[in-house]
Amino acid sequence: MSRRTLRVSKIKNGTVIDHISKGRALDVVKILGIDGRKEGVVTIAMNVPSGKLGVKDIVKIEGRELNPEEVDRIALIAPHATINIIRNYKVVEKETVKLPDIVQGIIKCTKPSCISNSSTEPVKPIFYVDSHEPLRLRCHYCNNIMEEKDILQQF
Ligand code: CTP
Ligand code: ZN
Repeated sequence: MSRRTLRVSKIKNGTVIDHISKGRALDVVKILGIDGRKEGVVTIAMNVPSGKLGVKDIVKIEGRELNPEEVDRIALIAPHATINIIRNYKVVEKETVKLPDIVQGIIKCTKPSCISNSSTEPVKPIFYVDSHEPLRLRCHYCNNIMEEKDILQQF
């Protein structure tokens, strides 16, 4: 394939999640809750040659712009991803995801006895990011450590 040939078509409107670490595209799709039943065209490209990363994965979601909460979710499992918003074929916004030091309200603690899981207490889940890669989150309330697999299980 010549360098001038596009492997995956440009999209007209929607979101391109670029620079996903290789092999992680399906996790990005999962964390966004995409199951192919209700969405428009979703293109997943894996192991695409890339200058910066060697190879990378890309996910293109047509007809939908991700909201900030969805971008935060992607930061959990694809810390180098770039979110490109496309309108009429042009990139109108480009944002590199950023994992905050504290993660609030996106995921639940996996420990059933944690106070944040109590149905009688209105306690919002809060986690500290102990490690980025591999991802390790620590529950503010019970010190439970959560890893990537625990997070993916929730979506
Ligand atoms: N893209 C697309 N459809 C468009 C425009 C862009 O699918 N209509 C995709 C490109 O293929 C690329 C990503 O969106 O994967 C970002 O596009 P662009 O900013 O033009 O590419 P680069 O300059 O290579 O991006 P970066 O600097 O972030 O690597
Ligand atoms: Zn907890």
